[in-house]
Amino acid sequence: MKHLIAPSVLSADFANLQNDIEMINRSQADWFHIDIMDGVFVPNISFGFPVLKAIEKHASKPLDVHLMIVDPDRYLQEFKQAGAENITVHIEACTHLHRTLHAIKDLGCLAGVAVNPHTPVALLEDIIEDIDLVCLMSVNPGFGGQKFIENTYKKIRTLRSMASGRNDGLLIEIDGGVSNQNALKLIQAGADVLVAGNAVFSAADPVSEISGLKNLNPELIGS
Ligand code: DX5
Ligand code: ZN
Repeated sequence: MKHLIAPSVLSADFANLQNDIEMINRSQADWFHIDIMDGVFVPNISFGFPVLKAIEKHASKPLDVHLMIVDPDRYLQEFKQAGAENITVHIEACTHLHRTLHAIKDLGCLAGVAVNPHTPVALLEDIIEDIDLVCLMSVNPGFGGQKFIENTYKKIRTLRSMASGRNDGLLIEIDGGVSNQNALKLIQAGADVLVAGNAVFSAADPVSEISGLKNLNPELIGS
C-alpha cells in the first residue's frame, strides 16, 4: 500500500482556517489529522466541536481525529456526528479499551489506538486484532513542532511483526516530528500514515512539501 499523508491542522493558521483547509484539499494529502486536547490528558487545550464542524464543512478528505482526552467514551458519538471518519483514543486514557474500540467501530468509524512514547507496544498484544490503526506517538503529545524520538523506528518494527498474520491490514501511523528528514526511513520501517504539522505549515510551499512526503519511494536504498 502506498503510504498516506495526514497534515495536522494544529499547525494551521486558525484565523485563516478555510484557506489552510483548501490548501490541504488541493494537495496530495490523504487525510486531515485533527488533534483534540483537553488540558487534562495533555498539558494543552486545542479546540472542540464548533471548530471541528467548521473544518468538516470545507474538508474534502477524511477527518482523522486524534483524541488526547480523558474518558473519550463520553464523546465518541458526538465526534462521529461532527464528521470524524477515524477516531483514535489513547491507550493510557482507556480503562476498557476493547469496549471503546468496538464502540467506535459500531459508529462506522475506523478505530485507532494511540501509544505514548513511553508505552510499550507489547501492551497491544491481546487487542491487536481489534484495532484498525495504531498511532505511534513519536513526541510526547500536547504540542506541535517537537523533536522526533528515535526509538519510534524500533516500535514500528515490533508492532509490524506482532500484527503479521493476525492483522495484516493494520495501519501504523506516526505522529510527531515527522519531516522530509525522517519520512523515508519511517516508511521503510513499516509506517503507513505520516502525520505532519510543523513540517507542512512552516514550509514556504506547503502543497509541494506534502507532495515531497507523498512521493517518497520506499524501494530506494540508501537515500
Ligand atoms: C501532538 C499532536 C500532533 C502534532 C504533530 O500532540 O498529536 O499531531 O500536531 O505536529 P508536528 O508534526 O509539528 O510534530
Ligand atoms: Zn496527533
